[in-house]
Amino acid sequence: MIREKVRVKTFKINGVDITGQSNQTVLEVAREHGIEIPTLCYLEGLSCVGSCRMCIVEIKGSHELIPACTAKIKEGMEVITNSPKIEANRKMILSMLFSERSHTCSTCVANGDCELQSKSVELPLEHIQVPYLNQRFEIDASHKNFVNDPNRCILCTRCIRVCDEIEGAYAIGLAGRGLSTRIIHDMDEPWADSKSCTSCGKCVYVCPTGALYEKDVTEEEVFKKRGIILELVKNRGK
Ligand code: FES
Repeated sequence: MIREKVRVKTFKINGVDITGQSNQTVLEVAREHGIEIPTLCYLEGLSCVGSCRMCIVEIKGSHELIPACTAKIKEGMEVITNSPKIEANRKMILSMLFSERSHTCSTCVANGDCELQSKSVELPLEHIQVPYLNQRFEIDASHKNFVNDPNRCILCTRCIRVCDEIEGAYAIGLAGRGLSTRIIHDMDEPWADSKSCTSCGKCVYVCPTGALYEKDVTEEEVFKKRGIILELVKNRGK
């Protein structure tokens, strides 16, 4: 495989000149310089899928909004991370996520430690802009330690990626289409019957909402360890 040479690129974020390396994304360079761009499916240490679109930014000369987590920097590009257009689109994206499942925070175990909730507070999203379309999914509480509640899932696929890329178990996948899509274990078996799952709990730690959680834990005790992945990746090289 021929590797492309990494070069230094200069570009602008919000009118300020910034340099980064050609193999870096807009999001990585922005965060290195303390510029906050909201994310949901992205988690440092895992591959990027660009599925949630929360990190959309404007690139001068383009009509489209581009996900910052997958867009590689280019020499001379001009990025805007916040504008009325971006904010309106982020609100619509969040509205659709809320409308697709049952995200009633007051009855969710992740209340207070949920990235979907915190993004809607930060934006802020005062009300949902589209009709509710959520259906009722069966909860899988078969595992001795963990619960899978698809009603709280935003399909960010962090659980799938951490299981594949960090744990190497390949125990989680997606089934169904559109609004009916949900995460499954092995060939859609109860979690307790999964032969691939190692019960490591990494999927639970990285879940941004209350879709995957530890059993017998109250709302006050829920403590997601999303940063653990980065630690594991760093420690691999030692
Ligand atoms: Fe970039 Fe989800 S964080 S698309």
